[in-house]
Amino acid sequence: MRGNSIKQEQRLGPNISARLSAHVTLEVQADGKVFAAFGGYYLDLGTFSPSAAGRLQDLRVGLPLKSLISSRRDIDQQIYQLVRRLARRGLLEYPVRRVRSKEEDVVIEPQAADYWPEAPPLDDEDTMVLSRFALLRRRGNAMVLESPRAGALLRICNPQIAAALARLSAPQQLKRFRRREGFPGIELLAVLLDCQMLFKVERSDKRSLRTAEGDANLVLWDFHDLLFHTRSTEGRHANPLGGLYPYAATTPALPAVRALWSGKKVGLDKLSAAPEAMSPFVKLLNERHSTRSFDDQRPISLADLARFLQATARIRSKSQHQVDLGEAQPSVEYTTRPYPSAGGSYELELYLAVNKCEGLDRGFYHYDADGHVLVAIDTRAPEFDAVLASAQFAMDAAAPPQILLIITARFGRVSWKYSSIAYALVLKDVGVLLQTLYLTAVDMGLGGCAIGTVNIDLFAKMTGLEFHIESPVGQFAMGRPAETEY
Ligand SMILES: Cc1cc2nc3c(=O)[nH]c(=O)nc-3n(C[C@H](O)[C@H](O)[C@H](O)COP(=O)(O)O)c2cc1C
Repeated sequence: MRGNSIKQEQRLGPNISARLSAHVTLEVQADGKVFAAFGGYYLDLGTFSPSAAGRLQDLRVGLPLKSLISSRRDIDQQIYQLVRRLARRGLLEYPVRRVRSKEEDVVIEPQAADYWPEAPPLDDEDTMVLSRFALLRRRGNAMVLESPRAGALLRICNPQIAAALARLSAPQQLKRFRRREGFPGIELLAVLLDCQMLFKVERSDKRSLRTAEGDANLVLWDFHDLLFHTRSTEGRHANPLGGLYPYAATTPALPAVRALWSGKKVGLDKLSAAPEAMSPFVKLLNERHSTRSFDDQRPISLADLARFLQATARIRSKSQHQVDLGEAQPSVEYTTRPYPSAGGSYELELYLAVNKCEGLDRGFYHYDADGHVLVAIDTRAPEFDAVLASAQFAMDAAAPPQILLIITARFGRVSWKYSSIAYALVLKDVGVLLQTLYLTAVDMGLGGCAIGTVNIDLFAKMTGLEFHIESPVGQFAMGRPAETEY
């Protein structure tokens, strides 16, 4: 078949429809006002003509997207606008069928807030292969295909699709692949390509599949590390997240203190230091605590901040080392800083969302640990406010922190050297840095609180940095403590 026929087939379908996710209902009032109800929330979707409002319930079953997009009819355009609004809130899913088939092959479930299904054009000569980050697993009673790179996951309804995916573990040229039994359809392949579950390979490309996928930074990621990063942060998945006590009804909480082993005990109390004999450092360790409310009448000053960053994160020295790998002798630059770092990698960077700081404009900054300077970064107000609001929410605090430190990692600094353990090392480094920030804050009469959640998608939007190159791995809220902190 020629390219032309493929274009034709793409235009005709198989269909991608939009329908309401199972947990969402639409409520239409007599005056045409429409609300989406989900998890105790109501989203105002606007007012619709009686004929449009009457057709909205079709979203329960599914409305074919292509016909909505291409239609000039007012009713279709109204519905299309509503569909886009629902999509932006992640309230839709997208069943995909093959031409003339009534059965759903897959259902696309958005994972990132701005996911919208696209089917880029494919050519008969195109060769494509499954991403090494794609994984197929059981979720409840369903088989799902997901990938840390994808803005959506696919619920596989037709086992033939799983068989087709297995074939795609080796490069398949479309011309031949489409003639094989169980061919999943052009539109589904295009959707998979669009969400980076598949990628195109040039037949002349002699590189390994690992190096041919994505950019030079992606090559450095191990499969489990990228999955861990995207699933243990906010922004790129739709799973429940945070302190939700999901097993409280089924399992009691573990005791705070581990049960004793039965062996012989060696008492340490008599040999330990009395409180008055403790060193200043041990006293500091014992005074360390989290601060969640800050004195906004007397905020932290730029001078405090300068001393704080100097004490915790400033580069002390730089040096160049040759690594002896036999044939290759790559040269690597190293730094020393106040806190330890796995392999001396020092992959962590500090970004500051400054809300209230005497002597420093409200805004977003990067701390250049080498020059000991803050560099302003332009961000859009809603995103800047959202990052501070999420820190306030995580601390259950009455106000946003005076300064939010966002700790990012330049992952390649670690994964260039370490296999299998790179992301684990990054997180251990974050722990080390957090304790350094805590102790320094308390020592300086400032206050701070580590924050366990971080939105990697929001940070990517604020900075334009892709999440696999440099992305947040920790946060620390800080400021001058309120007199009555809790
Ligand atoms: C990795 C990490 C994540 C944390 N995340 C949060 C958080 O999201 N919200 C919060 O209010 N406190 C957070 N904390 C602070 C802990 O709740 C606090 O350290 C703990 O309750 C002990 O209290 P203390 O720090 O005052 O000694 C976090 C602490 C750590 C080390």
